[in-house]
Amino acid sequence: MSALDLVRPDLAGIPNYLACSTKEKIRLHINESPWKPLEAYELPLNRYPDIEPQLSLEKELSKFYQVAPCELLLTRGADEGIDFLMRLFLSPGRSSMMQFPPTFLMYAFYARLQQASIISCPLEGPDFHFNRERLLELWEPHCKMILLCRPNNPTGNLLSLETIASLCEEFADRSIIVVDEAYIEFANTQSATTLIHRFENLFVLRTLSKAHGLAGLRLGCVIGSQAMIEVLRTIAPPFAFSSLVLEAALSAMKHPEWVEGTVKNIIHYREELILCLRNFSWVEHVFPSKANFILIKTSFAKPLYAWLEDHHILVRHFAGNPVLQDMLRITVGTAAENELLLAVLHSFHTPDHN
Ligand SMILES: Cc1ncc(COP(=O)(O)O)c(C=O)c1O
Repeated sequence: MSALDLVRPDLAGIPNYLACSTKEKIRLHINESPWKPLEAYELPLNRYPDIEPQLSLEKELSKFYQVAPCELLLTRGADEGIDFLMRLFLSPGRSSMMQFPPTFLMYAFYARLQQASIISCPLEGPDFHFNRERLLELWEPHCKMILLCRPNNPTGNLLSLETIASLCEEFADRSIIVVDEAYIEFANTQSATTLIHRFENLFVLRTLSKAHGLAGLRLGCVIGSQAMIEVLRTIAPPFAFSSLVLEAALSAMKHPEWVEGTVKNIIHYREELILCLRNFSWVEHVFPSKANFILIKTSFAKPLYAWLEDHHILVRHFAGNPVLQDMLRITVGTAAENELLLAVLHSFHTPDHN
């Protein structure tokens, strides 16, 4: 048995539409309008997007992530990568996936859409650490996917590559291991993509929404072994990426130094902010972070959230989540934004002092 056998049997050989390049051809084959209403753009917006820019972007991204183009599938954000993987491996009403809360809420969202059940293996202790023994206890044969977030949102901590490699080995032909590395650029560490040649059951999610500063384009990718990516490609719809989006992304990819510079800044500001936040007497704990956000623990999470909002600063409060209700997640901003945040925090008086 190979990890390829984990693909939903009813999807084997699904017929898919393969878009091909039609440059210089007279296009009378897909019912487009021959005219475009907007002359402001150079692009032929009356036409479905040509496959060439998508292939070029996949090539650029594969260089950036140091994998081969055949090991990468472009998606509309990492979110769509999660959705595709669940559709490919989780049979509705039969399969389950395992997640490690507190974590990114969209894992449970897409699992529910897919009618898969969810096994939760909570991160433990005051430092939210991963418990491998608990995972082994909770795993059951219908669990076709183990979904890890590295660094984890919202706790900001990082699983080691050794842990990931050992899980890939342990579950080689039983579960796929998905590693969501949406924030990995801020962690200054090796990506799990370095393991894809060793493990066919491993998929890594990357995104252009965070370090690349392109959340508005909605682009990300799934990286895995060539054989697995080939199968994943069979369920990807044609013409999914707008010509404008592809053009903008290709322009941005010409400036990898921009990513490097901004990531450096965010890491620097993050460490500065962590030190400053630790000085507030009403902050009980500032979690170390390998991402572009910081989680703090305070009994005043709710009034603090409201105070910041009154001053036009939005942070994330996880009201209703018993594990996170006394915590706030703060995204690292520009130097000016962080300064303003600290000034508003200094002006906050805990309800006891009022
Ligand atoms: C852990 C994690 N994964 C994936 C995503 C989604 O990223 P994208 O914008 O690429 O869909 C987010 C967004 O915040 C995230 O926090």
